[in-house]
Amino acid sequence: MVEMDVLVSLCKRRGFIYQSSEIYGGINGFWDFGPVGCELKRRIKDSWWKRMVQTRDDVVGIDTSIVAHPQTWIASGHVASFNDPMVDCKACKRRFRADDVPASEDGSTGHICPECGGELTEAREFNLMFQTHVGATADNASVAYLRPETCQSIFTQFKNVQMSGRMKVPFGIAQIGKAFRNEITPRNFIFRSREFEQMEMEFFCHPSESDKWYEYWISYRFEWFKNIGVKPEGLRLRPHEHRELAHYAKGCTDVEYKMPFGWSEMEGIANRSDYDLGNHMRESGKDLTYFDEGRKEKFLPYVVETSVGVDRTALAVLCDAYREEEVKGEKRVVMGFHPSVAPVQVGVLPLSGKLAEPAKKLEIDVRRHFVSEYDDAGSIGKRYRRHDEIGTPFCVTYDFESENDHAVTVRDRDTMAQDRIAIEKVVEYLRDKFAFSK
Ligand code: GAP
Repeated sequence: MVEMDVLVSLCKRRGFIYQSSEIYGGINGFWDFGPVGCELKRRIKDSWWKRMVQTRDDVVGIDTSIVAHPQTWIASGHVASFNDPMVDCKACKRRFRADDVPASEDGSTGHICPECGGELTEAREFNLMFQTHVGATADNASVAYLRPETCQSIFTQFKNVQMSGRMKVPFGIAQIGKAFRNEITPRNFIFRSREFEQMEMEFFCHPSESDKWYEYWISYRFEWFKNIGVKPEGLRLRPHEHRELAHYAKGCTDVEYKMPFGWSEMEGIANRSDYDLGNHMRESGKDLTYFDEGRKEKFLPYVVETSVGVDRTALAVLCDAYREEEVKGEKRVVMGFHPSVAPVQVGVLPLSGKLAEPAKKLEIDVRRHFVSEYDDAGSIGKRYRRHDEIGTPFCVTYDFESENDHAVTVRDRDTMAQDRIAIEKVVEYLRDKFAFSK
């Protein structure tokens, strides 16, 4: 499995991910996605949206504001208890999550700084929400928060979506968007950061059917990871033990991926009962119950939630795709992305700058069908190496012979086999190749 520093360096070199504000020394817990990385993220999000919303008739999407009415976060419990216990080192002033500090020999929480051996303060609760002020006055009345999860606005807009969309329970509401948490110790590259994206779906159903839907969504979501090419041996489901469950949760199962730093949570699927709608109904005083015409029954729907991080998924996809091979005594690095998430599906490369015109014409044709890129920078060997490292499944090379035989060479990223294909058949050839790898 790839070592993290190797992956981090490839990500920077090839334009996947850079440290945020790098020229100012970076800012801990924040990352920027470069041209190749943002395409990878976009394709992951597109795949999720397609699978969760566009190909289903029982889930609709929304896109809500990042800053919501502050009462939202009182109702959800975040103001009171979205906390991590934190300790500070009195000597070096570093800050740690109390549960990250190794226990003392007697089994209690450690009192010695893991960095410098200095004395630690007692643990204090630290609220992870970022605060801001709305409007010109910065007082208690204007405090607002950057959302720490995208789902709360799904709950507060439940009634609007249900009524305006004439939705019948059971149905789901999905959202992709940024979330912010002032993590005490952001770490492991983009795995735990302070600004990240979530893809969440809340499925509203009758309480008596929530167990059934919970099981359904666990397997549906697990399949999605395989569909985007994550190897099954790196994936597992981990049902939460009873003591890990929030008091309102009837069940929770994580999808975990075997990262270079161990099995790690990618996604949580939870039966959240009527906890969220109940809280918002109480706090707002608005009726959020649903009248079921079929059952002739009014009830507060239960919610089965699926919640996955875009950045964590991208990290799993990156780790999973990385491989090194030896070719003719030289190391070849390949990102073996599944075509459904590859940032570039087809590279079109003229062998020489003199062939730019016909090669560009071909690329315009290819672009109508695939995510493609025209690339004429550097020697052909260097360009192949770059496309291997950004995970382009196929490269089409237009050479001098192409002028005579009206054919091009198509190189397969994984086998490095090269086929000579008539230009007019290239799109069809690639379409067959991609269909085969679906
Ligand atoms: N609405 C439920 C919820 O937010 P969560 O387990 O706190 O549950 C869901 O977060 C997912 O969001 C996680 O499984 C993870 O993929 C992602 N996530 C959470 N905190 C993150 C962080 N600090 N950095 C990157 N991704 C994060």
